[in-house]
Amino acid sequence: MTETRFTPRVFSGIKPSGGLTLGNYLGAIKRFVAMQGGGFETIYCVVDLHAITVWQDPAGLRDATREVAAGYLAAGIDPARSILFNQSQVSQHAELGWIFNCVARVGWMNRMTQFKDKAGSNAEKVSLGLYAYPSLMAADILLYHATHVPVGEDQKQHVELTRDIAAKFNHDFGVEFFPLTTPVIEGPATRVMNLRDGTKKMSKSGESDMERINMTDDADTISKKLKKARTDPAPLPETLDELEGRPEARNLVGIYAALADMTPEAVIAEHAGAGWGTFKPLLADLAVEKLAPISTEMARLMADPGEIDRILGQGAEKARSIAEPILRQTYDIVGLLRS
Ligand code: TYM
Repeated sequence: MTETRFTPRVFSGIKPSGGLTLGNYLGAIKRFVAMQGGGFETIYCVVDLHAITVWQDPAGLRDATREVAAGYLAAGIDPARSILFNQSQVSQHAELGWIFNCVARVGWMNRMTQFKDKAGSNAEKVSLGLYAYPSLMAADILLYHATHVPVGEDQKQHVELTRDIAAKFNHDFGVEFFPLTTPVIEGPATRVMNLRDGTKKMSKSGESDMERINMTDDADTISKKLKKARTDPAPLPETLDELEGRPEARNLVGIYAALADMTPEAVIAEHAGAGWGTFKPLLADLAVEKLAPISTEMARLMADPGEIDRILGQGAEKARSIAEPILRQTYDIVGLLRS
């Protein structure tokens, strides 16, 4: 199916489970901002229904939802140019999610590596929602006929599953209704790693706060964490290839590149031969310059939750106006009677 008959439309989402990290910022939000106004209609979501696949304290969930919204806004998502809302205010997500539970196969879900990682040896005890999560994610995307989904590397398999669900739905019902969405996984920071162990992804949940940078960290904290980041003894090499087998060094070069809007090759060319005593303070200064204004703005926004709620409510209304007709047509295709 050609994708040209679909309006170029971007959809992406972030879970409000815990705070936002530098991984969420560089791998997702910064790229969402860049796609705004670039020939796409842009829809960005705080996916609260995904967060409750694991236990969330109710008051904490509301706070985290506002914090993710504040992160989007502080980083430059403009509600006048993008639709910004939280998922649970648009009930069509859950409704299409159910239809897709009946399209997706159990065998497909069994192959999802993120489920296996999260469930671990405890798979019998996790919620059914955690298992079905990727079909709700497909619903998030396809409810808007989104053609492009910018995500970090860890979400690639879920977007591929979204394509499989769209293709199976179209095939089963003999329609060309859902687009085959393109994952957009680009730039130097699609997988930001843990600052203490460069073989692990930077994530919201980790033993030590020193492993990650939070989008709410102040200037001193950002600087301290980067200066204390684990490295190896060798200086920066002449070429990117020579960073092979040096995960911590590779990660810091990637972070620098993403913050400075450079390629990792250009960072290496500029800093070849530099020791960490030189490079880390430069990285820390750059990170403070780019991130501290965002954390300050987040704090300002969070002080007025009513305003955040108002923006999310308005966004939800706009989202519903796109989602409603698509869900209605889906019901008609499936044969669900409407009086
Ligand atoms: P979530 O909430 O875990 O992460 C949100 C986005 O941040 C990216 N990301 C990272 N990128 C680079 N390095 C990292 N260390 C890092 N950590 C997180 C993620 O790849 C993601 O793009 N299932 C999704 C949420 C979701 C969604 C959707 C995304 C639900 N429905 C529809 C896109 C479209 C998730 O759990 O992301």
